[in-house]
Amino acid sequence: MKLMKNFLLVLLLAMTPAWAGDSVAPRLDIGKGGQCVEDPKLMRRNHMDILRHQRDETMRSGVRGSRHSLAGCVDCHASSRNNSVLGGSENFCQGCHTYAGVRIDCFECHSSKRKTVAEAGK
Ligand code: HEC
Ligand code: HEC
Ligand code: HEC
Repeated sequence: MKLMKNFLLVLLLAMTPAWAGDSVAPRLDIGKGGQCVEDPKLMRRNHMDILRHQRDETMRSGVRGSRHSLAGCVDCHASSRNNSVLGGSENFCQGCHTYAGVRIDCFECHSSKRKTVAEAGK
């Protein structure tokens, strides 16, 4: 029964279009703009897998600076207000994760700040 419920929930989520039009959706500061590294709809669903894969590639084969790098995400998605993807309910990564009840530890090691700023601050 629980399984069935979860299945229906997943189905429902899969059929729901972007949060656009959803009044309770988080209002996110997308950041710099431009074009995401993948289709935003795909990113919304699969960014965790893409990041995980990118990490494995880097760790295993030393591939760096590819278009799926975490630093790249931050560079684009950091808010223009505090140059970070963290901070509040409008900040890109934190805003949506708080809304979705997701916790990540990535930024304990990785910089949450746009690189140009992080470097200027060094
Ligand atoms: C060159 C800038 C740029 C880079 C680099 C970039 N993005 Fe994006 N991303 C965007 C833009 C702009 C949008 C919004 C597109 C739209 O809504 O039409 C977006 C959308 C998204 C969305 C969907 C947001 C929503 O509200 O549905 C997610 C999730 C996302 N990006 C994650 C990532 C991750 C993770 C990375 C790194 C692997 C990344 N992005 C790299 C510019 C970028
Ligand atoms: C304990 C510290 C630590 C934590 C926590 C951590 N990482 Fe990393 N991560 C690293 C180190 C160190 C590297 C290697 C950096 C390098 O060699 O460029 C790395 C590399 C990466 C890379 C490839 C390089 C890049 O910039 O894209 C990705 C992607 C990545 N991590 C994603 C994540 C994600 C997603 C999380 C959270 C789920 C996370 N990491 C959590 C330490 C950490
Ligand atoms: C539009 C909403 C949204 C945005 C924006 C977003 N995420 Fe997520 N993220 C989610 C959701 C929802 C999940 C949980 C998915 C699941 O559990 O299947 C998640 C999960 C993750 C996970 C996996 C966590 C785990 O427990 O394995 C990582 C890593 C992650 N996000 C990184 C990021 C990073 C980095 C950013 C900013 C560049 C970002 N996300 C922006 C919605 C978002």
